[in-house]
Amino acid sequence: MADARELLDAGERLGPEELRTLQLERLRNSLRHAYERVPFYRESFDKAGIRPEDCRSLEDLARFPFTTKADLRENYPFGMFAVPRERIRRLHASSGTTGRPTVVGYTENDLSMWADMVARSIRAAGGRPGDVVHVAYGYGLFTGGLGAHYGAERLGCTVVPASGGMTARQVQLIQDLEPAVIMVTPSYMLTLLDEFERQGVDPRTTSLRVGIFGAEPWTEQMRREIEERFAIDAVDIYGLSEVVGPGVAQECVETKDGLTVWEDHFYPEVIDPVTGEVLPEGERGELVFTSLTKEAMPIVRYRTRDLTRLLPGTARVFRRMEKISGRSDDLVILRGVNLFPTQIEEIVLRTPGVAPHFQLRLTRTGRMDSLTVRAEARAGATPEVWEAAARSIVTAVKNGIGVSVDVEIVEPESLERSVGKIRRIVDLRPRDTGQG
Ligand code: DLL
Repeated sequence: MADARELLDAGERLGPEELRTLQLERLRNSLRHAYERVPFYRESFDKAGIRPEDCRSLEDLARFPFTTKADLRENYPFGMFAVPRERIRRLHASSGTTGRPTVVGYTENDLSMWADMVARSIRAAGGRPGDVVHVAYGYGLFTGGLGAHYGAERLGCTVVPASGGMTARQVQLIQDLEPAVIMVTPSYMLTLLDEFERQGVDPRTTSLRVGIFGAEPWTEQMRREIEERFAIDAVDIYGLSEVVGPGVAQECVETKDGLTVWEDHFYPEVIDPVTGEVLPEGERGELVFTSLTKEAMPIVRYRTRDLTRLLPGTARVFRRMEKISGRSDDLVILRGVNLFPTQIEEIVLRTPGVAPHFQLRLTRTGRMDSLTVRAEARAGATPEVWEAAARSIVTAVKNGIGVSVDVEIVEPESLERSVGKIRRIVDLRPRDTGQG
């Protein structure tokens, strides 16, 4: 169903010129706010010899310094805040697999803007006021659960705050409470799929109409798998705590052609990750965001480490970003060849006899790194099918990516299942000599 124009909010109805004017005005305010209130930004702008008032066009943003995860860590916990602590209504934190976590804060207005953006996202995905929304993103310090929750309420939906885990009960709730929309990581959606089958319930018969999947990379092949198995529309939602949480960009259900960036609040750039140069529209590189309206924690040119490219708008006036192909942290360099888990996902998911569950194991013998793709057989697949699947994955990786890998087909249901963000890579190489 196409979005009738009257359903759009004021920001989505802007014309292209109006949008640029609004962005520039907001950008200048935000840069000034950061410079005046956050010592870190004052220092970094001064060091770069640039002042907020030097930003006279959107292109001038490229002259400002970047902000990185390390900068946030060094200013842990409250050093990046631009308002007195008493004005902070909520804190979230990123998991921080290495070192300190990063803490992010929101004022009352920030929380309201965030809810508006998630409401806009759910509507773009095909959710409507009055729908029941099952939220299976984790609740807590992770932004997924609460972010989705307040956005769904803002849109006028009935929220089921299921959070992650207790999978059998989730399946029961979906049958009993009849949600139209589910918000969950794509990997946990597959865990739910297994559970439907275990309970003997056909997942195509549920009330679900739309799935809003994000927090981790996933592919077109995965979209097809989920859409077919559940008979729903599957769309992508993107976000990160440092910028706000879920609802920075959302795929529109009528086009399913990448994610519309809500750039009236979050200004995107794509840069060459090595030189830091801003790349023209259409070129792939690292995504960088500048917040335009945030009060508690304005963020200037934050390097996300997510790889994508910007594309012109289709369903909305705003630009789109292509589905994230991976994070620079998840890049595996195997004998000089670059490889992302999503490339393996594409191959595994189109291999007959193999379930959509896989894991990548990195090992080292001597100075030689090896990658083993462990993929799960579908129930009932014969030994011949297992063998053919293994051969076919080896060949597809060799021909498509250009590197030799080992493939191990494992028993159905033997790989660990996700309850939130899945970890695809198991790195068993000695630590001190791991790749840089
Ligand atoms: O994952 C926020 C979120 C929650 C987004 C629920 C969507 C749905 P963080 O924990 O800070 O926040 O992790 C942010 O997750 O930099 C990406 O690497 C990855 N990521 C998030 N959404 C997507 C997506 C949340 N749609 C990091 N596709 C980001 C690919 C994604 N990667």
